[in-house]
Amino acid sequence: MQLYTGFDKPLGEAELAAYRALIKRRLGGEPVAYLLGEHEFWGLPLYVDSSVLVPRPDTETVIEVARATRADRVAPCRVLDLCTGSGAIAIGLAKELPAARIIATELSPEAAAIARRNAERNGFAERIEVRIGDLWDPVAGERFDLITANPPYIASAVIPTLSAEVRREPMLALDGGRDGLAFYDRICGRAREQLDAGGALVVEHGFDQADAVRARFEAAGFAGVTLVYDLGKNPRVTWGTVP
Ligand SMILES: C[S@@+](CC[C@H](N)C(=O)[O-])C[C@H]1O[C@@H](n2cnc3c(N)ncnc32)[C@H](O)[C@@H]1O
Repeated sequence: MQLYTGFDKPLGEAELAAYRALIKRRLGGEPVAYLLGEHEFWGLPLYVDSSVLVPRPDTETVIEVARATRADRVAPCRVLDLCTGSGAIAIGLAKELPAARIIATELSPEAAAIARRNAERNGFAERIEVRIGDLWDPVAGERFDLITANPPYIASAVIPTLSAEVRREPMLALDGGRDGLAFYDRICGRAREQLDAGGALVVEHGFDQADAVRARFEAAGFAGVTLVYDLGKNPRVTWGTVP
């Protein structure tokens, strides 16, 4: 933008060299968010690098649905965000639910470090605890009022067909196994066990996975299972409550 708004200002060699280097990285398919090291989600600034998925606008639907499951938004509650990546969902919910205590789990230590940095940057470090480990391992036996997840949900065979930009994002953040549904198999039943009565599970999924995800919610015994569309009018979020 500065190149255009100050177009009569000559650039120095150092500025040109830095700009050319960024252009080259962009031509190589690197997302702009990785070049800037920063991305906005739910109106909050987040650090990002190639160890985390760039948070998508679709995922803001998870925040909208999750906050609406709490009738009293200022009441204390225990929240778990599985597969937190940059911490986007945990941080958005910390803003919306000011008395929530949030645990965020993440398998990648590099991503977990980014999530911690983002919690701190936005002033939520005291209410968000990031734990490293495989899905439920870091929270065995703990109970929650709300569980959110945007797990990897791309079918393995589809990954080579994705755009160059998306393939620059961590494979660990994308690969949802043979049918893309492996994480929902691991999330729904266990969430039912670790939520208290009245608690809610809210998950993001692929536009073509709504029926399969609903079946898993119902098999696990969730009530009022509901599908919500994102702003692009795609079936994107499924949620239900523990009777
Ligand atoms: C689709 S990304 C979502 C990141 C973030 N929640 C968001 O919405 O932007 C999925 C995340 O799950 C993490 N992940 C993959 N396998 C995992 C596992 N077995 N346990 C915990 N986290 C895992 C990945 O490292 C990645 O950060």
